[in-house]
Amino acid sequence: MIHSRSGELDAALGTLRERRRGFERWLVAERAKPGISVLVMAWPANYATPVHDHGGLWGLEAAISGALEVESFLHDPVDRSLRSQGRTWLGPGDATWFDAAETHTHRCRNLSRQETALTLHVYGGDLAQYLAYEQPGPSGHWIARPRHSEIAGRLTA
Ligand SMILES: [Fe+2]
Repeated sequence: MIHSRSGELDAALGTLRERRRGFERWLVAERAKPGISVLVMAWPANYATPVHDHGGLWGLEAAISGALEVESFLHDPVDRSLRSQGRTWLGPGDATWFDAAETHTHRCRNLSRQETALTLHVYGGDLAQYLAYEQPGPSGHWIARPRHSEIAGRLTA
């Protein structure tokens, strides 16, 4: 559906690509019971997230325009290690998903050096808080830092 209607979507979301305000998360819809939230995200050229979790929520993400690289990691809370589970690449209309698990983390990157990418995200709840992981030294240990997800605004259909 995303692919077949990519022209319409591009027209509707074109303004998001032209804003050049950095990485932005736009809320499309949310429900409390069952918990679900739908967001569109704008990724500046070359932008990469830190390795992060999703507060234990399940999630689905799809590229609307542009292409993302997604590297998944398995987080071991006991020894605080992150083990790469491999990479996937999402072009327009491609999607990836993950189960509700504290151990799932990933890092996402806009593969374009010039163009803003847009992606669609569905989460099993409100992803207000999550953890970002940093590796301060060569020891292999990762430090988790709480982050708050900012919303740039609401997109209404
Ligand atoms: Fe994510």
